[in-house]
Amino acid sequence: KFTAALFDLDGVIVDTANYHYLAWKTVADELGIEFSEKDNERLKGVSRMESLAILLEIGCLQCDEATKIALAEKKNKTYVTYIEQMDAGELLPGVRDYIVKLRRRGVKIALCSASKNAPLILQRMQVEDLFDVVIDGNRVEKAKPDPEVFLEGARALGVEQQDCVVFEDAKAGVQAAKAAGMYVVGIGQEEHLREADIVVNRVDHAEMEKFF
Ligand code: BG6
Ligand code: MG
Repeated sequence: KFTAALFDLDGVIVDTANYHYLAWKTVADELGIEFSEKDNERLKGVSRMESLAILLEIGCLQCDEATKIALAEKKNKTYVTYIEQMDAGELLPGVRDYIVKLRRRGVKIALCSASKNAPLILQRMQVEDLFDVVIDGNRVEKAKPDPEVFLEGARALGVEQQDCVVFEDAKAGVQAAKAAGMYVVGIGQEEHLREADIVVNRVDHAEMEKFF
């Protein structure tokens, strides 16, 4: 049995993928890059700067560091205007209850996200108190698929990596969690998440009694 649950944020707790997509789309349009929802799958789970690098690669464009920073800031400004309007109604179904039940069973809970906007989103969703620790994009150096964010989560909870179950919706995130030596529940479609140990459609479809 596992003693800790580590949750990704975007796409696991809350469905922000479309807001990320719309915000990158404004940047893409401005640069004349054709950017589809299918391309957006590649941006899931990876850091803001890495997302920009992928977008520029799709458009076969290169630019200097200062321009990159300006573009990433622009995207984030648009993204923040979307998330500032979010409320607890946009929590993914069943997530809150699932975590509340885990807590009652004594399972330790961490949020392990690449996003620098995690604190704002948690606040908007009113779920800050569900997590014993929050490790986000402001606290880690290496983006998923590097295992840093999950190893840091386990360390902060005071548990061993093999005692952790990770809930992840992105390919890069599943790879990061596997590289950390953890059990991975993939959230979403099997085709993107083949490296996960099991795949379910939503968090509360992972049988709690089986794992914790
Ligand atoms: C991840 C998202 O959670 O956070 C990525 O899946 C995003 O799409 C990354 O790029 C970084 O987010 P932010 O909010 O710091 O730009
Ligand atoms: Mg995610």
